[in-house]
Formats: sequence, structure tokens, C-alpha cells
Amino acid sequence: MTFSSYISTRFYMLKLAIDLLKNDNIISMPTETVYGLAASIYSEEALRKIFSTKNRPFFDPLIVHVSSIEEAKGLVKKWHPAIQLLAEFFWPGPLTLVLEKNNLISDLITSGLQTVALRMPNHLLALELINKCGFPLAAPSANKFGRTSPTSAQHVRDEFPHENILVIDGGPCSIGLESTVLSVEILENYSLEVSILRKGYIKLIDVTSLLDSHNFKYSVTAPLNIKASPGQMKHHYMPIKPLIILDNINIEDVSLSSIKDRLANLPSQIEHVSIIKPSKIESIKELILSDDPSWAARELYSKLRESSNGKEDIIVFKMENHHKDDAWEAVLERLLKAATLILEF
Ligand code: TXA
Ligand code: MG
Repeated sequence: MTFSSYISTRFYMLKLAIDLLKNDNIISMPTETVYGLAASIYSEEALRKIFSTKNRPFFDPLIVHVSSIEEAKGLVKKWHPAIQLLAEFFWPGPLTLVLEKNNLISDLITSGLQTVALRMPNHLLALELINKCGFPLAAPSANKFGRTSPTSAQHVRDEFPHENILVIDGGPCSIGLESTVLSVEILENYSLEVSILRKGYIKLIDVTSLLDSHNFKYSVTAPLNIKASPGQMKHHYMPIKPLIILDNINIEDVSLSSIKDRLANLPSQIEHVSIIKPSKIESIKELILSDDPSWAARELYSKLRESSNGKEDIIVFKMENHHKDDAWEAVLERLLKAATLILEF
């Protein structure tokens, strides 16, 4: 493709996407984390299409994507100098801020919560799209509910082969894991209460160091409270073949028939995600990730997809001691949720 034809393709692609979004449709957009399935926050019809296309239950709230800090401010009840600082420092980027919503945000987006999750993605095409639309876009990851997130345009096409969804191809995602979700509550004394609801590339220490360096007063509350973040289920990101994690154990020490029996004994669905049970287990695919956690994050979802597209019956990941280091926490969290079974010595 020549440069000028690339520019005109990109121009028409964006124009088409904007037309679709303005007419109550959904499209798929690239971000630096994973590809999203986007709808105008003001189109109830399009928002409903997100849930039906993904088979997503309505109790799982959506993240709203903005292209400027001003746009984010217009969607919440209260702003705070520390929130301004976090937004200026981390946006555009993989940090989602959960703040008290105002009435521009519907219950459909927040699953009835009084808070809204906001983020400015660090991807030029996404920013241009949101900016040209003139309205924020609600976008969950572009995968069926509970399944592996997409990190390329092709993954989205593979995930929805029959749905005829326009996918803006922005290349492979540079981060590869969903954004860190941080709840920020402004207390009556004007100090903050922060809590990590989903781990990601930006760590709690990055947030607290920034707040400390500007002498903001805050407290950190316990993370991962299911009520505070309803979408954070135990089972998520699951590939279409069972992923078995071996914690401190060798595959040679496990019999394949015992894995098959253990899978057979699981319920057919856990937290609305169906559990895949192979009728035979004769061959295994080993999932091998880079030793560098940032690279591992970037390749995790595509390797999970590739591994499940092969002829093998199950995928196996051998967890080593270094995977338990802090730098691995976000990747490990995804792996543990994607696993159907975790076998320990
Ligand atoms: O990186 C990302 O965040 C990607 C890209 C597309 O931006 N989006 C994404 O969306 O991961 P999704 O729907 O797969 O995950 C959104 C999660 C919800 O499951 C929930 O845990 C949390 O964000 N969330 C959304 N709104 C919330 C709220 N008001 N309060 C607490 N948690 C919320
Ligand atoms: Mg998701």
C-alpha cells in the first residue's frame, strides 16, 4: 500500500466508523491495551448491542473512553487536584479512573453503580475517532464474555465471524493487557481513598509515588472487592481449550486421564462462562512466555489464542518462582483467571 492510499484508507475508515457510531451502531477500535467494542455513550441502542454481541451480563459495567481531560471532567460530579494530576500524568495511557458519575452517564453503562470508569487511551486512531465523534465511547474488550481479549484486528474478526463489525486496524496492541482500574473516592475532608480494582501495567506504587511527590493526602483500601468492581470475576480471559496451570509441578508427574477426570467433574458454567471439557486428552500444548513481564503481557493473549487454535487438546503453563514477583502480578492474575485448573504439588 502506498503512503497516500494508506492515508485515504485511514480517512475513509474513520469516517465510516464515525457514521456508524452516530447511527446507533457499534464498531471495534484499537487501543494500546486491547481492542474495544465501542458505542456512543448516548446511544442506548448501541450500548445494548455491546452487551448482546458479547453475551455480556448487564451487571458488568463498561469503561468510558474520552479524548481529553475536559471531556472526562464533564462526566463526573466532582473533580480534585489529585485527580487532575493523575490524569495529566498517566493519560493518555492504561489507567482507568473510577469516579462519581453525573447524570450524563446512564445506568446501562455503570450497571446501576453511582460511579463511572473513565480512561483516555494512548492510541492515535482511538483518540482521533473519539475526538471526531464529539462524544465519549463506552468500550469493553472486543471478545465474547469471559473469553480471551483481542490484541490485534484479526483477533476481533476471528472472535465475531458472523457479526459484520467494522474493525479499525491499528496494529498489534503495545501493552497487551487491559488497563489498571483505580477507584478514587473524594472524602468529606477532601482527602482521597484509592483502591486498585484491576491490576495492570500501572502499579499502585506508581500512583502513590506520584500522589506523595505532590503531598496529597490519601489512604489505600483493600483491592478487588467484587461489589466495588462487579466485572472482576474469578473466571475470565479463558481460551477455547482448557488452560491448566502447573504450580511447582512437572507435567510428567501428572496423568492426562486425571486432568480429564478433574475437568469432567467441573460444572458446565462458572460465573456465566462455559467451561470447555475435551472428550479426550492425548496431546498438550505448552504455553511459553517471555521472561520479561512486559513482553509476556504483550504476547499473552495472542499466544493463548494461537495455542488454542492448534490440534492439541489442552494448554499447559508451567508457573515458575519468578512469575510470583511483583512485576508479574498483572500477567499472573490474567493467567490464573484464564485457567480452568490449577494443579499444585
Ligand atoms: O484496557 C481496557 O480497559 C480495555 C480497553 C478496550 O480500553 N477495556 C476493558 O473493558 O478492559 P472491560 O469491559 O473488558 O473491563 C471493564 C471492567 C469491568 O469489568 C469492571 O471490572 C470495571 O472495568 N469497571 C467498569 N466500570 C466500573 C465501575 N463503575 N466501578 C467499578 N469497576 C468498574
Ligand atoms: Mg474484558
